[in-house]
Amino acid sequence: MKLIKKGAEGDIYTTKFGSDPAILKTRKVKPYRHPTLDNKIRKQRTIREASMLAEAKSVGIRTPLVYQVNTSDCTILMQRIDGVMVRNLDGSKLKSACMQIGKITATLHKNGIVHGDLTTSNFISKNNKIYAIDFGLAQKSVRVEDHAVDLRLFKEILGSAHVQIMDSLWKSFLSGYKSVVGLERLNKILNQLSIIEGRGRYARME
Ligand SMILES: Nc1ncnc2c1ncn2[C@@H]1O[C@H](COP(=O)(O)OP(=O)(O)O)[C@@H](O)[C@H]1O
Ligand SMILES: [Mg+2]
Repeated sequence: MKLIKKGAEGDIYTTKFGSDPAILKTRKVKPYRHPTLDNKIRKQRTIREASMLAEAKSVGIRTPLVYQVNTSDCTILMQRIDGVMVRNLDGSKLKSACMQIGKITATLHKNGIVHGDLTTSNFISKNNKIYAIDFGLAQKSVRVEDHAVDLRLFKEILGSAHVQIMDSLWKSFLSGYKSVVGLERLNKILNQLSIIEGRGRYARME
């Protein structure tokens, strides 16, 4: 096993499942939380992540296969997608990835799934196909408000990580999103987004 990422929530290792490349995702004990509560939270997020990965796959989204879930040490063993994080793409590849992420997000929303952590580090590009990962904060919801919150995070990430071309990436994301849910639903969500952003006015897309 090789450690590839140390995170606040847990560590990520590359390993094998039989002969297939795999990822082991762990969830750290949080010493500041009461142990009983901490166990409950880690267990709940582990189960949620594994089931949401599977549910997203069942509605046609590319996600890693879940090989094993261990609810006592709170780990998930899953398929490793050997590609490039969308965060590390640029130019036309990044733009097209944002359009794909828009489509993926809209498909999730249409099926009542909110990802909860839409960042360009949580999508992997492999052979020009985009895979969604990191469903630990995903939830079931069909509410416009919850869908708008999902979009808001993605927009913020574009503004911080990809600042020079944020406008064009955001437009690509929205056109992908619109192609799945339609203009009327998109405008409802953009209206809600502008309320959350404190602008309180319509930001319509034609
Ligand atoms: N199934 C996977 N295949 C390939 N890389 C992965 C996979 N899962 C996670 N990673 C890599 O590890 C990083 C962190 O994993 P992630 O599930 O996003 O956890 P975190 O909660 O720490 O963000 C990802 O950004 C990605 O680079
Ligand atoms: Mg992540």
